[in-house]
Amino acid sequence: MNIQLMEFPRHMDEYGSLVPIEASDSVPFDIKRVYYIYGVEKGVRRGFHSHADLEQVLICVSGHVRILVKTPWEEQEIFLDDPQKGLYIGPMVWREMFDFSGDAVLLVLAGDHYKVEDYIRDYNKYEQIARQYFTENQ
Ligand code: TYD
Repeated sequence: MNIQLMEFPRHMDEYGSLVPIEASDSVPFDIKRVYYIYGVEKGVRRGFHSHADLEQVLICVSGHVRILVKTPWEEQEIFLDDPQKGLYIGPMVWREMFDFSGDAVLLVLAGDHYKVEDYIRDYNKYEQIARQYFTENQ
C-alpha cells in the first residue's frame, strides 16, 4: 500500500533517550524538509490529501495521534505513540491525521521542498489518479 512502519534505534542512558535519523540510511530518501504539527485541538482532523510524488516519514515525538492511510482498495488506521516509530508514506496514499493528544507533536520528514502542485486534495480526483498509478507501478 506504499506505507511502512519503521523503528529507529534509541540510545538510552541515565541521562535520557536519543534517536538519531540519517537521511538515506534511517529513512529511504534524502530529507529536504522538516516540519511539525502540534497544538491540535481535540476533535480536529487534518490532512485530507495525497501527494503525487512526495515521500514522507511521520514520527510522533510526543503524545499520540492516529493516522488513516488509504488507497482506492484498502485502508489502515495507525496509532503513533512512540518517538522510536516512524510511518513511511510513499506517493499516492491518501492520509488523514486525527485524535491528537494535547501534548502531541507530529514530526514530518519530507523528501522534497513544499510544492503546492504535488498535493491532490480532491478525493474523487485522487481515486482516479491512484487507480492508474498503482496499476502502472505494480
Ligand atoms: P496543510 O497542508 O493544510 O496541513 P495538513 O495537511 O496537515 O492539514 O498545511 C497548513 C498550512 O501550512 C498551509 O497554509 C500550507 C502551509 N505549509 C507550508 O507553508 N509548508 C509546508 O511544508 C507545509 C506542510 C504546509
